[in-house]
Amino acid sequence: MNFWSLSKAKNKEGKIAIVTGANVGIGYETTKGLASVGVKVIMACRDLSKAESAKQKILQSIPEALLELMEIDLASLSSVRSFAKDYKAKFDKLDILVNNAGVMMTPFQKTEDGLELQMAANYFGHFLLTGLLIPVLEKSFRSRVVSLSSLAHRWGDIHFDNLNAEKGYDRRQFYAQSKLACLIFAYHLDKKLVKKGYDMHSYAAHPGVSKTNLMRNLPKWAKFLSPVLMPFFSQSAEKGALPTLRACLDDTLNGAEYIGPSGKKQYKGHPVIVDSDYNSKDKHKAKKLWKLSEEIVNFKYFKNNDEPKAQAS
Ligand SMILES: NC(=O)c1ccc[n+]([C@@H]2O[C@H](COP(=O)([O-])OP(=O)(O)OC[C@H]3O[C@@H](n4cnc5c(N)ncnc54)[C@H](OP(=O)(O)O)[C@@H]3O)[C@@H](O)[C@H]2O)c1
Repeated sequence: MNFWSLSKAKNKEGKIAIVTGANVGIGYETTKGLASVGVKVIMACRDLSKAESAKQKILQSIPEALLELMEIDLASLSSVRSFAKDYKAKFDKLDILVNNAGVMMTPFQKTEDGLELQMAANYFGHFLLTGLLIPVLEKSFRSRVVSLSSLAHRWGDIHFDNLNAEKGYDRRQFYAQSKLACLIFAYHLDKKLVKKGYDMHSYAAHPGVSKTNLMRNLPKWAKFLSPVLMPFFSQSAEKGALPTLRACLDDTLNGAEYIGPSGKKQYKGHPVIVDSDYNSKDKHKAKKLWKLSEEIVNFKYFKNNDEPKAQAS
């Protein structure tokens, strides 16, 4: 079969992308892949010294890479707002937004905004970031928003009565909920953009099981077994970034595709269009989640249902 690979991507000089969590893992490899085809990448990271080391490492293999660092903490709504403000002051367009940063199975923690950490960093922060950046995305030809989901989206559901762990916390369930929310968001955003006539699409991607730092909060027994088991059902971060890169760069996609690995159970393999759980396509759930998310982050994407333009703030 003729699978998509980075070598199939056209040169994208002149394009600009933001990758959140670009200093390591899937975000790092995504940054490297985008830079290799001429995209200028804003590495949006919470620790600028780690980001600088990652930038230097990429420059060693791609000396012509156009990379810039900007600080963002996705778990802080005020940090997301100031990032978006600074970006819009500096750049007048955005071609690709990659909502990549994430944490998995963290011990219970509330953010400064009173949100559960996994929901905040993985979902709410990116929901707000995307909305705030629509005015610059809108200025590019066929711009794209790519949101990272996970096989874990199948483990759970959106618990509207416990979205922020007011009634209890299970770290696995909350990771699943956050990644299902990211996927619902990616699909629903595309529908809204099409309906409102934007020259912009939203996609989702997942890296299967990739060797990154994400597993740091796994239970001890899982960490103990992973060196033995991981080689059988996991892939490198470089391969794991290919679904994201395809969602960013493949000109034949139409919008709202979900890209993941081709192999058995989507653990590893080539980047292909994959299907997702029925929960991720539930229209009522999507509308309810969107409305609640706008209230929680205190930002309205579109001024009213008929308004074709995003709010500029
Ligand atoms: N690896 C997998 O098998 C797998 C599977 C399914 C989905 N995913 C998804 O892929 C994405 C990337 O994960 P990864 O595997 O590359 O994990 P990773 O190696 O742990 O990288 C996560 C990145 O997110 C950043 N980050 C975490 N919290 C942040 C915050 N509050 N603000 C800003 N940046 C933050 C991290 O920054 P620091 O370095 O400063 O911590 C790091 O750059 C995530 O969305 C994850 O859910 C991964």
